[in-house]
Amino acid sequence: MAGRGRGLPGAPARIRAARRRLLPIAGAMTMAGRSRDPLRTLAELERQLEALERGGVRWLNVAPDPQAAPAGSATAGVTVPAAAPAPDARAAPPAPAAAGAAAATGAAAAGGADDERPHPSALATLDALRGAFAECRACKLCEGRRQVVFGVGHPRPRLLFVGEGPGADEDAQGEPFVGRAGALLTGLIRALGLVRDDVYITNVVKCRPPGNRTPEPGEVASCRPILQRQIELLDPRLIVCLGNVPLKVLKPEAAGITRERGVLFTYQRWSVLPTFHPSYLLRNPAAIEACWKDFRTALQLGYLRT
Ligand code: URA
Repeated sequence: MAGRGRGLPGAPARIRAARRRLLPIAGAMTMAGRSRDPLRTLAELERQLEALERGGVRWLNVAPDPQAAPAGSATAGVTVPAAAPAPDARAAPPAPAAAGAAAATGAAAAGGADDERPHPSALATLDALRGAFAECRACKLCEGRRQVVFGVGHPRPRLLFVGEGPGADEDAQGEPFVGRAGALLTGLIRALGLVRDDVYITNVVKCRPPGNRTPEPGEVASCRPILQRQIELLDPRLIVCLGNVPLKVLKPEAAGITRERGVLFTYQRWSVLPTFHPSYLLRNPAAIEACWKDFRTALQLGYLRT
């Protein structure tokens, strides 16, 4: 366990500064049923590291990036849960959907009549879609954003995670779910035996709502054709709605995430699993068990099989 290399210096202050690396490990342990509370697990990991430091250990091998560490490897004295089946190697580009067939469900489609941008449904690749909306000004969220946070991941994923909207970290880095909630989501993905590159992660709205407020209906409607086209181009085996906002987009009649979580439904031709948003799980760690149960259902039904 101890050794030089990509190391974590042992001083307690540095250990505490490494919380972001440790949280996915704590999340993964929780998902795998090895603990019940990721924040308590995190505190225990910190305590273990401090004890090692007091015992003279100066360096620990810690994966530089949580998703880069192979599942089942020992990290900071903790064994990360064993991997589920190996990730799917599908990489074929998605077949372009028929023009006009997509995005019919958005109210105010981004790229309206007075807008030069093509409608998302006419764009045949994710890159074209990303490029066309990189400077989008279809709603007022453009005023406070640093950049459009389009989405990242596998072009033909088994899982498509859809969150609510970028927060401050995501706005700064241009990637969804890179803050604390993202660390928990990464832990969840790892507990499923996958890494972030195996899945695709995006949000209902692509620009940060000020103060991280819930996106307004008009903002959701503006972005909706982009999400629709992402779904068509990615053609995931399973869409995972993280919380109420994406749930209500794909199932407007839904009662709410507490009632609907874990109950698979069909949106157009895609299966959808609603579950709690990682930010909710951070505030209510007891709900992580329920969330993991939702994913076990998806595992048992074969959605993650290679
Ligand atoms: N919460 C979200 O819904 N999305 C992000 O990208 C980050 C936090």
